[in-house]
Parts: sequence; structure tokens; C-alpha cells
Amino acid sequence: MILVTGGAGYIGSHFIKKYLDAYPNETVVTVDDFSEGHREAVSYSSRIHVEQANMGNIEAMVALLKHYSVRTVVHFAASCYVGESQQNPAKYFQNNCVHTLNLFEAMARCDVREVVFSSTCATYGNPQYLPMDEVHPQLPINVYGSTKLMTEQALRAYSIAQGWSYVALRYFNASGADESGLIGELHEPETHLIPLVLQAAQGKRNAIQIYGNDYDTPDGTCIRDYIHVNDLARAHISAIDYLRQHPGGEVFNLGTTTGSSVLEVIDVCEQVTGLTIPRAFAPRRPGDPPVLVANADKAERLLGWKTAYDLPQIVQSAWRWEQGARYPSSKTASATGSPRQI
Ligand SMILES: NC(=O)c1ccc[n+]([C@@H]2O[C@H](COP(=O)([O-])OP(=O)(O)OC[C@H]3O[C@@H](n4cnc5c(N)ncnc54)[C@H](O)[C@@H]3O)[C@@H](O)[C@H]2O)c1
Repeated sequence: MILVTGGAGYIGSHFIKKYLDAYPNETVVTVDDFSEGHREAVSYSSRIHVEQANMGNIEAMVALLKHYSVRTVVHFAASCYVGESQQNPAKYFQNNCVHTLNLFEAMARCDVREVVFSSTCATYGNPQYLPMDEVHPQLPINVYGSTKLMTEQALRAYSIAQGWSYVALRYFNASGADESGLIGELHEPETHLIPLVLQAAQGKRNAIQIYGNDYDTPDGTCIRDYIHVNDLARAHISAIDYLRQHPGGEVFNLGTTTGSSVLEVIDVCEQVTGLTIPRAFAPRRPGDPPVLVANADKAERLLGWKTAYDLPQIVQSAWRWEQGARYPSSKTASATGSPRQI
């Protein structure tokens, strides 16, 4: 069986759904401490075993790995807010590094040696060239990115020293929602551009803040690489197959290579919703590179993976989700949007 850490979260829940769709006779177990994430994201199917625990609890994880005869860990659980990581680095080093190393210790004790890891373009830092490929220098400019880079380095060392097989997937900007309406994006607080823009369209938030319109980009606003969460999910399924056939370690960028500016995203949101979206320009924020786009050729070549969704399809899926029930237990969104474009 596979163990999914952080399966109640945004990307983990989409991976689980795609995995169960791909393997109708299988079940999965997820461990989540519900520090974030949503119970509804994993409660729609009896094929998901939900274990509430901290992945850093070695004894609990050993018991769980044994009980479910886990072969592979798909490791999404982490603290993921760039801004918070700068304010509270201890939380990020503790959760993303120490708890992850504890998880790895539990795996080592149970002889579980296969990992698919959620890494990020934030490990690269400021782009030295574009689009960024996997050999681009990794010089993170925030604590969150550093913790993800450290985990990649740990995996490399475990692979060399103890024969682990892993794939680290460096996502660019995850976005969109599953068409089923069962699961979607709901972070509290929300920091991602597309949900913030769509909530501004619905009047749930004030005008969307655009940080900087004087960048060296065609319309002056920042460009990011938006990738549908189900495209990410499918890549994880390919990654499990890959690491089982290719012992050792590998890293892949997951992006579309075609970036979209903040203004382009807002335009597409207006087209999809038919609503006028209030916006306000604000000064640039420190640490926001003008452009971040992936070269994902390696994933196409070695995983046979290609994206299926373009930006209008991403926004359409996110809009359906925003208009639906979302997760009933969620708190009301706060009034002011503050998109973080990393
Ligand atoms: N969302 C993006 O655009 C993006 C981009 C790059 C990388 N990533 C990475 O992808 C992964 C998933 O991101 P997401 O957006 O789904 O985040 P999320 O916050 O929605 O999900 C993370 C889940 O992990 C759980 N969790 C956190 N710490 C835990 C712990 N110690 N023990 C057990 N459960 C714990 C949370 O409760 C939550 O359900 C993260 O590792 C993140 O760093 C996300």
C-alpha cells in the first residue's frame, strides 16, 4: 500500500483521488495532523484510510507503516507559507525538516525505502536563466525554500547511503480543482492568486492587490507558471512507477513553461466569470522575482508526462469550486487578498 502524508491538503487530496481512479482495486492510507487541510477532502471514499497523527511521531509512524504494510511514501505534508516561514523559521525547520527526518527514521526502521517528495521551485531562488531546468542553481531566498532543499539533500544522502529510491518533484504554481466538485483549493489564509482573484470577483474580498506593475515583463506585472493540480497528481503516479523501475534518486520540474502575468490571470478570470474584478496596484514586494517558469522537458522525456490543462481550463475548474459548497467546515475568508506569487 502507499502512505500519503498530508493527504487532507490541497495537492495531496487531488493525488489520492487520481490514484484511486487509476487503481480501482487499491486503497491508500493517509496521515495528516489536520493542522491545515480538511477532513472532507479525504472522507468521500471508504478506500481512504485516514490516520490523524503527526508524521514526526516516530512510534506512531512505525506502527502505521507496519499495520498497512506500506511500500511507498508520497510525502506532501509540510508547512507551506513563504511569508510565515520568514516570520517563524523554527516552525518551518521543525515541521519540514525535523518531522520529515523522523518520518524517514520510522521508514528506515520498517525497511520502507521509496519516497515521492513534494519539492518546489522555491528551492531555486532568483532565476539566473529562464525557463529554469533542474540543473539551475538552488539558492533559496526564503526559509520555506531552504527547508525543501534540505529535504532533497537528505533524500539524496539516504539514497546513496542506504539504497533509498526517490523522486523529488519541484512544483511551480499549483492551481485549479478537480472536476468532481468533491475537492479543491482552500487554504486558510489563502495566499494563491487564482482563488484570491475569484473571491474578489464574488465580492468576498476587497480589490485584488497587484504588487508591482513596473517589472521588465510585457505588461509590467509578475509572471508565474500555473499548473493544474490534477496534472501534478498524475505526475506523482508516474513518479511511483519510475522510482520502482529506476532505483536511485531523480528530480523533476513540474510546470507548463508558459507563464502568465498577474494581469493575464485576472483577464482570464474576468472572461470565465463574466464579472469585473476590482484591482489595485501596490508597490513591489521584496523577494518577488519578475518571472518564474519551468523547463519541464525532463518530466516529459523520462516520466512520459505532459500537462493537459491550460490557464482558461484551470480557472474554469477553480471557478466551479469557488461557486460550489467548498468544504463546509471552512472558516470565512478574510477580507483582504494578499497573493504571494512564489
Ligand atoms: N501549493 C503549491 O502551489 C505548492 C507549490 C510547491 C510545492 N508545494 C508543496 O506541496 C505540498 C502540499 O502543498 P498543499 O498546497 O497541498 O499544502 P496544504 O497545506 O494544503 O497540505 C499540507 C497538509 O499536510 C498536513 N500536515 C502538515 N504538517 C503535518 C505533520 N507534521 N504531520 C501530518 N500532517 C501534516 C496539513 O494538515 C495539510 O493537510 C507541500 O509539501 C508544499 O510545500 C505546494
